[in-house]
Amino acid sequence: MPIGRELASTLIAAHGSPLYAYEAAVLVERARRLRACFPAENVRWFYATKANANLEILRRVRAEGFGVDAVSIGEVRAAIKAGFASNEITFNGNNVTSAELREVASLGVHLSVDGIPQLRRVAELGIANSVGLRLNPDIGAGHHHHVITGGPDAKFGAAPEEIDEALAIAAAAHMTLDGLQQHIGSGILETAPWIAAVDVMLKHAARLKDLRFVDFGGGFGVPYRPMESPFDFAAFREAIAPRLQAFRARMQRPIEFRFEPGRFLVAEAGTLLVTVTSVKRTTRHTFVGVDSGMNHLIRPALYDAWHEIVNLTRPNAPASCVRVAGQICESGDLLAVDRELPTPEEGDILAIRNAGAYGYSMASTYNLRPRPAEVMIESDGFARCIRPRDRLEDLLGP
Ligand SMILES: Cc1ncc(COP(=O)(O)O)c(C=O)c1O
Repeated sequence: MPIGRELASTLIAAHGSPLYAYEAAVLVERARRLRACFPAENVRWFYATKANANLEILRRVRAEGFGVDAVSIGEVRAAIKAGFASNEITFNGNNVTSAELREVASLGVHLSVDGIPQLRRVAELGIANSVGLRLNPDIGAGHHHHVITGGPDAKFGAAPEEIDEALAIAAAAHMTLDGLQQHIGSGILETAPWIAAVDVMLKHAARLKDLRFVDFGGGFGVPYRPMESPFDFAAFREAIAPRLQAFRARMQRPIEFRFEPGRFLVAEAGTLLVTVTSVKRTTRHTFVGVDSGMNHLIRPALYDAWHEIVNLTRPNAPASCVRVAGQICESGDLLAVDRELPTPEEGDILAIRNAGAYGYSMASTYNLRPRPAEVMIESDGFARCIRPRDRLEDLLGP
């Protein structure tokens, strides 16, 4: 049940506005939907922490049988604090320092290196007996060019032609290459690029004699706009399961397959509740100003992303075309551009839907504005603060 007017008012009265509110039942349902996809194919699921690193969210995904994918020492430490054992954490760092690699390895977390230079460094440091290798399968996909992470323009991974060199570097350092990893992009709603990338991965994974796992990354999209269709998991399963089964039969070993979804688990579980601070009419536009903005939800400004916005206070007001603007001193600080909304008035509460992924985790304190509190709502409507609002004193420094 999406958060309605009464609950939103109660939450804001208790925790302040703006506020990130997550519905536990949605998160759990998405986690179970994913795990039901490949019940018999030796698939392990790792939640991509970057989508939302709140410790309570990490605890919930762990309770659903997920490991986590981390891309920084901070995310590794968050996972450990949330109760994950080191063998439930994967690390896929990009352009990381030696100190960070050393620290991650010292915690017993298995590394997947991002390419030949990182592999050489891990070998020189002597910090691992086995590593995975991220491959760029030369296929990319995603909702915006900033989040396409495979293909000729991507900074990630090694090319398939570099696998022999990687094997040689690993062998010389007495390490095994025990896994192949990829992540082709984020917010993918079609199955075709996935299937193509899986084929490339399986073709090259077979070249690794010590292969233990093949990690296909994350990227399952959610429909943000009304005309978008959800990801077709039935078709995905139908295409992928036989490929995984055939690969295992060919390798004659119990290879583990992995996925690293982030957005799919948390995007639709989260709502950003904001309050209207002013309604200003210029010669061209009506600006509905709110007590939040790109500092709390950067996706519209960074990716031209579209989030449903609902006027919870005044759902039946006559509609008008408005721009929902934040408090940040930038003209690009718009949460919605030319959107039909029941005309808001000062004090109205607006719900910005599908804000659970890459919302809080990409939030900043730009303009020295605190980040909002986060609350988790249980199925019975009980809500608990899972991170308090930033304190201005902490932002100001010593
Ligand atoms: C290595 C890696 N794995 C998984 C993900 C999760 O992607 P998504 O949230 O789209 O599922 C990302 C996102 O950028 C990533 O870089």
